[in-house]
Amino acid sequence: MATTAAAMAATSVVVLDRGNNTTCTINLHGATVVSWRVNNQEQLFVSKLASFDGKKAIRGGIPFVFPQFGAWSFGPQHGFARITRWHLERPPDRLHNGDVEAIFSLMDNDFTRSIWNYQFRITYRLILREKELHFHIGVYNPSKELSFTFNMLLHTYLKVPDVRRCQITGLQGCHFIDKTRENALYQEGREVVTVNEWTDRIYQHTPQEHVITNVVSGRKMRLHKYNFPDTVIWNPWIDRSREMSDFGDDEFPNMLCVEAGNVTSPVILLPGTAFEASQILQQFKCPYTIDPSSCRKKNYLTNFLQYD
Ligand code: BG6
Repeated sequence: MATTAAAMAATSVVVLDRGNNTTCTINLHGATVVSWRVNNQEQLFVSKLASFDGKKAIRGGIPFVFPQFGAWSFGPQHGFARITRWHLERPPDRLHNGDVEAIFSLMDNDFTRSIWNYQFRITYRLILREKELHFHIGVYNPSKELSFTFNMLLHTYLKVPDVRRCQITGLQGCHFIDKTRENALYQEGREVVTVNEWTDRIYQHTPQEHVITNVVSGRKMRLHKYNFPDTVIWNPWIDRSREMSDFGDDEFPNMLCVEAGNVTSPVILLPGTAFEASQILQQFKCPYTIDPSSCRKKNYLTNFLQYD
């Protein structure tokens, strides 16, 4: 593609364009995916009150949560990655099969070390396919002495016509921490989970795949994940919506957060080692399977990423 890294880096937004009105837009503030359109149809929810001031986390899309999930005594809720400007490592590039990829990175700097005094390097590779968006993440600890622990999560806000009509599969039998009930631990009995009230749950040891029904145009969304053992389901409902200055009071029916991450057991990264995780979102109409090799553990660190 013609766009140069310098030109892209001068703006805050990077666009992957696959043709057929299928695009993905990433704001360098937090490397937040702020739009994913499939055939011109938006798949992600972004609040009409979202702030784009380069300071606050963007309310919607897919913010990148690292190195902390939730409240944090050292720094901002959900960590600093979602409020830090990322670097465009590789501008959008068309692959031989027509897919488009871009790579973003974040390294420790004075700001991150003032909160969390560790060296790290994250590489975030996005690939836009016809009806899929792939996320490949690598975290590297370049230190010779220090290990660190972290949480990581992709805080995906799906756009839905009416959250009450969505069903989420793949949670039956899983234990979950219910943040709306003083973090009590329960076990999910339902084959499909529905959301009809304030919901804030951390499901543990979830399977690699969830399907969410009744997303845009009554279609389904498959969320396939690797190395993300937890799934957070969140909708603020009426009262909590009113408490958020960057979220409209009437917007909660139109979003559903299904967030894949490492939340309950932080990842420990030893000096000189790397961690990888990935997610695929796939919009579909009828039964259709993902090519599992695209999300399976493979040596993509060697294939695509260069660490110094
Ligand atoms: C979810 C948490 O992941 O994010 C919720 O489980 C939290 O507890 C929500 O309210 C939104 O967080 P924030 O910091 O973006 O308002």
